[in-house]
Amino acid sequence: MLIQIKRSTLVASLALALVVVGPVTPVQAKAPVAQMPQVKYDYNMDIFHPVIAHNGMVATEQHLASAIGLDILKKGGNAVDAAVGIGFALAVALPNAGNLGGGGFMMVHDKDSGQTIALDFREMAPAKASRDMYLDEQGNVAGGRSLYTHLAVGVPGTVAGMEHALKKWGSMPLEQVIQPAIDLAENGYIVSNALAENLAATKESLGKWDTTKAIFFKEGEPLKAGDLLAQKDLAASMRLIAKEGAAAFYQGAIADQIVEEMAKHDGLITKEDLANYKVVEREPVKGTYRGYEVVSMPPPSSGGIHVIQILNMLEGQNLNEMGHNSAKAVTLMTESMKRAYADRSEYLGDPDFTKVPQKGLTSKGYANSLVAGMPLDKVTPAREILPGKPQPYESDQTTHYSVVDKNGNAVAVTYTLNLNFGSGIVAGNSGILLNNEMDDFSAKPGVPNAFGLIGGDANAVGPGKRPLSSMTPTLVLKDGKPWLVTGSPGGARIITTVLQTIVNSIDFGMNPAEAASAPRFHHQWLPDELRIEKGFSPDTLVLLKEKGYEIALKPAMGRTQTIQVRDNVLYGYSDPRNPDGVTIGY
Ligand code: DON
Repeated sequence: MLIQIKRSTLVASLALALVVVGPVTPVQAKAPVAQMPQVKYDYNMDIFHPVIAHNGMVATEQHLASAIGLDILKKGGNAVDAAVGIGFALAVALPNAGNLGGGGFMMVHDKDSGQTIALDFREMAPAKASRDMYLDEQGNVAGGRSLYTHLAVGVPGTVAGMEHALKKWGSMPLEQVIQPAIDLAENGYIVSNALAENLAATKESLGKWDTTKAIFFKEGEPLKAGDLLAQKDLAASMRLIAKEGAAAFYQGAIADQIVEEMAKHDGLITKEDLANYKVVEREPVKGTYRGYEVVSMPPPSSGGIHVIQILNMLEGQNLNEMGHNSAKAVTLMTESMKRAYADRSEYLGDPDFTKVPQKGLTSKGYANSLVAGMPLDKVTPAREILPGKPQPYESDQTTHYSVVDKNGNAVAVTYTLNLNFGSGIVAGNSGILLNNEMDDFSAKPGVPNAFGLIGGDANAVGPGKRPLSSMTPTLVLKDGKPWLVTGSPGGARIITTVLQTIVNSIDFGMNPAEAASAPRFHHQWLPDELRIEKGFSPDTLVLLKEKGYEIALKPAMGRTQTIQVRDNVLYGYSDPRNPDGVTIGY
């Protein structure tokens, strides 16, 4: 068994195998612009090395969940069985992001049919939600209402999504894939440094609710590293789900708990809302980039459309020749990002409610027209139609995981409670944390949400509507087969993180470890700042400043979980930005 060893991870029972890969041809420096040939890898040049396996691999943000996923694969489960087992396990082991009370997206590549399906289990606004529900009497956005109150909670989709995926593409019964998560919740596990830090940072919103404190606090303080976290109520809820299926959550005893919790605190979610929740299978958004096919999440995510839009804008340029993270390459990518995020604010929303010009946004012609009007020797100031504000939150509390099985099926899942531990509210005695996804709607045109994102009509609150997301679980296919399976948390930064993972892999021939470890940058049009991680050359920063960029050196962005398949060998890596993430394979 092959495992990625991280500082915080002590999985003594897992053996580490070293795989030595012989020398191969160096990266080709010059290539025709649009159709760059598949880059050859030279492991002798690499500083960071991925985990390598041949039969199956999982990459998640929590080593206990990775171990559960791998075990399912080894017992003969397919990638979807493992993904569903991981989905439940992360609700226990990564309570700040993994969830039953949130929602998300799953990309499933079925080897036999060659099809990729985009499963949408995003939260839906309750029937009583209304356009101006987050505004005060003066028409201003009432601070915190869409984040830390019962009004912040969208109707959760995760349990329905997991059940749907398992029934449709899995091979194991729900009782079997959920059992390891039940055991973990019942017996508990030791709180890691990362989880303790998250709990401490969220003390205020968690500490408001007795139901939440009963689980995550000890003697009035959040649990600390080294404490045992057992979640007996959550185990009981999952036992109900194992027995009755998703109906337990949407119609049965868990639904009662959620509705009671809402009624007590002026929340909107009713039993009808829960009973009416719908998972939707959607056609993925597709594009091509230098001979690869990019298959990603369509609306209500903005991610797939804008990753493809930006890749289209880059395709006519030789990034490889410009050099990785050179001022020239960063400028080209940043100016492209700005144009895509400006479009996001205008056009993107729930496709069941608003017409999204998906074809137009992802067409090569449109990208070419944007590039044609894009001077690269100087910076175009972000247009000032709508005011931008610095992002007030630095939460990184969504999670992504990737799975590939021995038959070549691949699954990419990004799901979330939105911010750290979501609304911070545990519903009654269910042990289930509820999301604050309603903040992803545009509370008022032009007023930024927690991620500084601006929107308008297309993403206004509406009953039954799904808030616009940036989550971008993505597959890159080569000759119709998965070549890269990736995704990330990071709110607005998810799109640019996934973009850079693809560019690092295709244009710069990086392996998943190198691609994840490279410093990242981000621009989202408004606020008009170029956000940079540490690790960039000071010389490059000077060049970028001289071009006119407002540079903001800010904390690390994104935490990718990537698996690459080359010549039937699996190469995977969990982003080093999260010390608890682990990739393992066999
Ligand atoms: O769906 C979205 O785009 C956001 N709710 C994701 C939030 C997120 O990634 C939080 N972590 N940074």
